[in-house]
Amino acid sequence: MNALAELRRRFKSALEGLADDPAQLAEMVLPSQDAKFGDYQANCAMPLGKKLGKKPRDVADQLVERLAAQDGFDAMCDPPEVAGPGFINLRLRDAWLTEQLTAALADERLGVELVATPRKYVVDYSSPNVAKPMHVGHIRSTVIGDTLANVLRLLGHQVITDNHIGDWGTQFGMIIYGYKNFRDEVALETAPVAELGRLYKLVNQIGDHQATVADKLPALKEKLAAAEERVEDLKAEPSTGDAKADKAVAKKLRQAEGAVVELRKEIESAEAKVAAFEDDSLLAEMSSKHPEIGAAALAETAKLHEGDAENLGLWKRFLPACLDELQLTYDRLGVAFDYTLGESFYHDRLAPVVKDLQAKGLARESDGAQCVFIDGFDAPFLVQKKDGAFLYATTDLATIEYRAKEWAPDAVLYVVDHRQSLHFEQLFATAKLWGYDQELTHVSFGTVLGEDGKPYKTRSGSAVGLMGLLDEAVDRARAIAEKSSVLETDAERDEVAERIGIGAIKYADLAHNRTSDYVFSYDKMLAMTGNTAAYMQYSVARVKSIFGKGGVSAASLRSSDAELRLCEPAERALGLELLRFSEALERVAAEYRPHYLTGYLFDVAQRFAEFFEKCPVLKADDEATKASRLLLCDLVARTLETGLELLGIRVVERM
Ligand code: ARG
Repeated sequence: MNALAELRRRFKSALEGLADDPAQLAEMVLPSQDAKFGDYQANCAMPLGKKLGKKPRDVADQLVERLAAQDGFDAMCDPPEVAGPGFINLRLRDAWLTEQLTAALADERLGVELVATPRKYVVDYSSPNVAKPMHVGHIRSTVIGDTLANVLRLLGHQVITDNHIGDWGTQFGMIIYGYKNFRDEVALETAPVAELGRLYKLVNQIGDHQATVADKLPALKEKLAAAEERVEDLKAEPSTGDAKADKAVAKKLRQAEGAVVELRKEIESAEAKVAAFEDDSLLAEMSSKHPEIGAAALAETAKLHEGDAENLGLWKRFLPACLDELQLTYDRLGVAFDYTLGESFYHDRLAPVVKDLQAKGLARESDGAQCVFIDGFDAPFLVQKKDGAFLYATTDLATIEYRAKEWAPDAVLYVVDHRQSLHFEQLFATAKLWGYDQELTHVSFGTVLGEDGKPYKTRSGSAVGLMGLLDEAVDRARAIAEKSSVLETDAERDEVAERIGIGAIKYADLAHNRTSDYVFSYDKMLAMTGNTAAYMQYSVARVKSIFGKGGVSAASLRSSDAELRLCEPAERALGLELLRFSEALERVAAEYRPHYLTGYLFDVAQRFAEFFEKCPVLKADDEATKASRLLLCDLVARTLETGLELLGIRVVERM
């Protein structure tokens, strides 16, 4: 039962006839910030009083009267109190709370109700570009998407998960070019993924080098010259005699000088990179033998897309190895998708999309390219390039069309980092013009940062490979497992380390509001106290150990005639928190934000720790109290376990 939702329903009906926006005002019922104001608090009497020209306290009194007259209200709540300027403080009746918790105990779903109107969701997440190493941003998409899919499903929605992998992009042109020119046959046979990775890196590195020499450095130098000229001009500017104007000039000069310093630094580091490359005789030779490697790789991609037999053959040969590699990561993360329809799947559907957009007058030629011009955007949405090539945008439009036809979803969620915001805004606007009116939401997320505040990289400077990241977390978690006195065998310690390590990474990602950047820190994510997976796993193990020590089985306790009673304040506070599971889940689903669930689980774990300190369980004064407290413990364990499961985190029996 979602008590907050029930209270809002009751407020809405009490507000009917008094206000013209009862539903909106009813949203002003919120959990209390402080237990001394009750369990929930409604602030709606203030704005309503203002609007009606009445004293808010009088409006509050009237609302309370109407609530009291409702069927069942007095069974749910103690008589509400009107406080201060017109706050309505609500406290759930102990008997009602106990009844709800007793029902939750007997329910596999822990009292979480199914939504009244289930929707069909497609969740597009993870979606890495294969043949390139997956990076830390892809974990964020994977764990957020997985959690949202799990939560929506538990609430009764229909969910289709689709991993929209990039399996058709320019990286394949790079690999094909690398294969044709630099391959090591033996390595390709024995360790294909590593060899493909090497080829990709090699072509990428040479391409970067050539682009730096040909374009980037000259452009930087031009900018520097302009900045230096500006500094000279500003220095030469005669004083006007007006102090304010002189100050403004001085400020401009400082800024221009700052720009010069920055540009010099940038040039220096680019030149150092160029020099290091040239010093490597092998690389230097390859580069001179393969000038304009970037364009050559693009040409290989174009040939692949045109159906060139050789390139298509190579793509078909390389793809399985890339997918197997990806699968290893998903297995380790315990994530599975209903569909993996990558970009290549839509290849034949792209030309018809552009045709249809043209026919409907949405796309038109501009500079030889096909563009959709949308009101409110500076730049048009490009759907076909001058040379005939289709784009990421075209594929996404084809995907919207396909999903609508095949699945007819009510909503499609794209869990992709915030740098693609503009792409999705334009995509959604185009889709709307094109006639698709389902909900399309970019569930965007921030960047994972290193301790230096820059996007997370390993010490060697390469973007972090995902497997290496997981390995390191598990290695460090092994230290926690080593310290435990309850783990007996090495195999048990390994298993616990794996669960704590992987759990730590996932939890750290999920516990931060997705729209913020966050700092990736092994020390923080593996801490045994605070809002971490380890603390949550430890809490579950601790509750389970109570049952072990007492020689009680939770299942038989549940089917016995043991009764739940909330007597001590710490028991009631814990019980109230446990009741709020539905509330947390519905909040996650409403805003597509998993951190409401981690925050909730942390609150439960804290309320449990307080309860456990104040209320002896196995040593309770009498058998009835002991049984009641064990029931609470059981509900704590199952709530935490279910919550962690939704986050894709496995619990441990002991640690
Ligand atoms: N492959 C893209 C990337 O790694 C993400 C794809 C997201 N999904 C989509 N339908 N565009 O950046």
